[in-house]
Amino acid sequence: MYILGISCFYHHSAAAILEDGEILVFCEEERFSKIKNDASFPQKAIEFCLKEAGINSNKLDYIVFYEKPFLKFERSLMISLKYFPFSLSFFVSSMRNFLTEKLWIKSIIAGRLNLNSEKILFVPHHLSHAATSFYSSPFKRAAYLTLDGVGEWTTGSWGRCFDNKIYPVAEMRYPNSVGLLYSTFTSFLGFKINEGEGKIMAMANKGKAKYMDKMTKIVKLNKDSSIKLNLDYFSFHKSSKHMYSKKFAKEFQDLDEFDLASSLQKCIEEIIFTMLQFIYTKTKMENLVYSGGVALNSIVNAKITKRTPFKRVYIPKNCGDNGGALGCALYVYHHVLS
Ligand SMILES: [Fe+2]
Repeated sequence: MYILGISCFYHHSAAAILEDGEILVFCEEERFSKIKNDASFPQKAIEFCLKEAGINSNKLDYIVFYEKPFLKFERSLMISLKYFPFSLSFFVSSMRNFLTEKLWIKSIIAGRLNLNSEKILFVPHHLSHAATSFYSSPFKRAAYLTLDGVGEWTTGSWGRCFDNKIYPVAEMRYPNSVGLLYSTFTSFLGFKINEGEGKIMAMANKGKAKYMDKMTKIVKLNKDSSIKLNLDYFSFHKSSKHMYSKKFAKEFQDLDEFDLASSLQKCIEEIIFTMLQFIYTKTKMENLVYSGGVALNSIVNAKITKRTPFKRVYIPKNCGDNGGALGCALYVYHHVLS
């Protein structure tokens, strides 16, 4: 059985092919297009995968997309309506985006691959992330955590993996998001979102976490270890151009940038380690698999076994949306079909 997994139209588009559940090939479109973080439909990556697998597209049993476009559309629509008229620019830009490409992914895939659309399946974004980490890990049993900017509505999730299946327990929803919190500071410090986060992480090592009192104004930890963002400081939910509000700019202007990066790093460490402590308490599992764009923060990752009760941790190197192409295919093979 051949399954093709696809992720695209946000950032880091990619494709992967499984043969009877084994990973045959995985690659990102940027390797062919030479456009960093290329988000376009991964036509060349798919062609490469088919060539490496030695098959034509009509040999594919299933084609799986790494998220559910209609739920993502619903989120954009609901948020736009909630914050109307302040969200007008966000509404216009996201509707244009969805109505030109994202919403019609099924017909785009069927058309590009010349296939029957009944073979096309959709896996929720965070289940794709969870599957990338669990099914490529060495563990038979593990707790899982996923954290990113946002999928459809979900921004983070956790659960249990055993008997080759993934069982979600709880999720955190937009606009409360560790990834969007991090990206807001990335944007405020003058870097490109989804590219500059690594630079902020490096800057954190050069500073001191002096501004924790300010961080506590913009983000709170709930009892169940989820977070609540104070939306007075953010504008990503109603603007297509700005992540942060005037109030945020006033709060953080004229501060040492390295100390600010350091304060952000300390803040997300406290959030993630609190979440992991909570997940361990609930699951009592000693293995952790962790994925999503936030799992690219290697400073956090290096401290997990020291700061939490987890004894072993597996984080796939393609833990961001690129790996979603692999995760959605693995999820269908192992969780849905097996
Ligand atoms: Fe993601």
